[in-house]
Amino acid sequence: MRLFMVFIVLILVATVVALALRPGPVPLAIRAPVVIANLPPLPPLVASATGVVLAWSAHARAGLEPCGCVAGMHGGLVRRAALLTRMPTTRLLAVELGGWSGGSADYQVVKTQHYLAALHDAGIAAIALGAAELRLGAPTLARLVGSSSVPVLAANVVGVPVQPVLRLERSGQTFAVTAVVPAEASGDGLTVGDPAEALLRLLPTLHGVPLIVLADLDEAALSALARSVPGLAAVVGGNVQQPSVKPFSIGACQVVYVANEGKTIGWWPLGSSNVAFELVRDAIPDHPLIRARIRAYQEALGTMNLSIDERIHGLTSLSTGGDADLRFVGDAACTACHAGAAAVHGPSRHAHALASLERKGYARDPECLRCHVTGLGLPDGWRRTAPVAELAHVSCESCHGRGSRHVSERAAGRPGSGSLVPVTPATCLTCHDKENSPAFSYDTYWTRIRHGQK
Ligand code: HEC
Ligand code: HEC
Ligand code: HEC
Ligand code: HEC
Repeated sequence: MRLFMVFIVLILVATVVALALRPGPVPLAIRAPVVIANLPPLPPLVASATGVVLAWSAHARAGLEPCGCVAGMHGGLVRRAALLTRMPTTRLLAVELGGWSGGSADYQVVKTQHYLAALHDAGIAAIALGAAELRLGAPTLARLVGSSSVPVLAANVVGVPVQPVLRLERSGQTFAVTAVVPAEASGDGLTVGDPAEALLRLLPTLHGVPLIVLADLDEAALSALARSVPGLAAVVGGNVQQPSVKPFSIGACQVVYVANEGKTIGWWPLGSSNVAFELVRDAIPDHPLIRARIRAYQEALGTMNLSIDERIHGLTSLSTGGDADLRFVGDAACTACHAGAAAVHGPSRHAHALASLERKGYARDPECLRCHVTGLGLPDGWRRTAPVAELAHVSCESCHGRGSRHVSERAAGRPGSGSLVPVTPATCLTCHDKENSPAFSYDTYWTRIRHGQK
């Protein structure tokens, strides 16, 4: 009887333990597809395709979204990723060509890290190295490659742990994808081999699996590569000014390329004699996961110490001066004597330029601040870590230069000694560049903020 009781207790204990250890609901291996409303229809060529479709962009420079300095700016992964969601993932082969590095400054490397994570969210299957990435040098590049959950590819680069080739399956077919950088590309600690030789070594190891080469090459070099390596399925570029109107055949290989800056998606139903290019328009709705990445990057910038916060040189064209009693003093120090200028400047958009960044959630981003505040990073200029309200916009001194000496001279009734800098149209162009202010012309813009005698 005692034995029987012990037996019962043992069974009960075993049941409780078994229940406690029972695995929970099986985690979903595949994230539920993101559905985004109000997307334009797929290009007809892609909509009517039944097989695997390659989608790619090049030279995106970590472009998560355009700055929005003027309306109608195209591009940005936040929209490109939204457009990719229209394709069933079983038939989509989405890749990122070289030129995705956002630059070598510390915040740019952090941005690139967030961009790589966003490429994963966007369903990108492979990332190619390009010449811009090599310029980062081996240590920085290795850190970026190591942080990427999407495989980073290159067949002709030694010195960084990239994958030479990636095998992928779509719609029951197997493909191999690789990447090459131009032979003349270089970076500290990296060795670059000849692209054709690298592919000639790679091909026999693939036993007939079709090889797609992502190549950061110009038009002539793309064709030359296809000619010198017989047996490639496709060469996809690249470092070009204009997209290829159609894929063109070199032997059995098809060559196709899309233009720069991630503003366009190239869509190519593999093997088709046609290709579609889709502009990533500003009206495309956001991909929610990429929007979240943008917020995460901006939040990270808010808490991070950057070299721009420590150094004694700025990101603007205003010189450091090197003259101890020549400092920024802020607009309030000018208004008493220049009421006319102040009446024009006060209500102008210059005087509210940081507020524009705050509205967008970009107020800690050095990439934006350099044009939207006074003297970013200069010892007496706007500092992210110790903000001075007087410099939190484009000020009188953004154009006229440091005013401390002028103020003390004039306040003492002395003539000015010429310490202010002459303002010329070139002063405006340091901020009103082609990209951020495409409609800028000195004559029309100056009339909107005209002050002084002229
Ligand atoms: C090279 C200088 C420069 C940089 C860098 C820059 N901006 Fe601007 N921004 C401008 C100029 C110039 C304008 C006004 C353009 C015009 O109206 O012609 C502007 C305007 C804007 C506006 C106002 C748009 C409107 O219509 O009200 C916003 C918002 C803005 N920028 C956001 C940003 C963000 C975000 C970044 C960083 C990702 C950034 N800017 C980086 C120069 C710059
Ligand atoms: C105490 C009065 C006073 C203050 C404060 C003052 N100015 Fe002036 N400023 C003058 C006078 C007087 C002149 C010469 C007459 C004129 O052009 O109005 C002058 C001339 C100028 C000129 C013409 C070029 C030159 O170098 O003479 C500019 C530009 C100028 N001021 C900008 C500024 C700015 C920017 C500030 C603030 C940093 C400022 N001023 C503060 C009185 C003042
Ligand atoms: C330090 C950078 C910087 C300099 C230098 C600069 N601007 Fe600007 N400008 C801006 C920014 C930033 C904006 C947009 C502010 C905003 O809306 O947030 C802007 C906006 C403007 C606008 C308003 C545009 C509109 O459509 O209303 C005018 C006009 C303008 N600038 C004229 C000029 C002229 C003329 C010069 C040269 C004399 C000049 N700016 C120099 C940064 C600069
Ligand atoms: C966007 C650039 C810009 C900003 C901001 C700006 N100015 Fe000017 N300012 C100019 C230009 C350009 C001129 C005309 C060319 C010149 O005389 O240097 C001018 C002319 C002047 C003149 C007349 C100079 C003369 O010789 O007659 C004064 C004074 C002046 N500005 C003061 C100011 C003050 C004070 C502020 C701020 C309240 C201010 N400016 C903001 C660009 C700017």
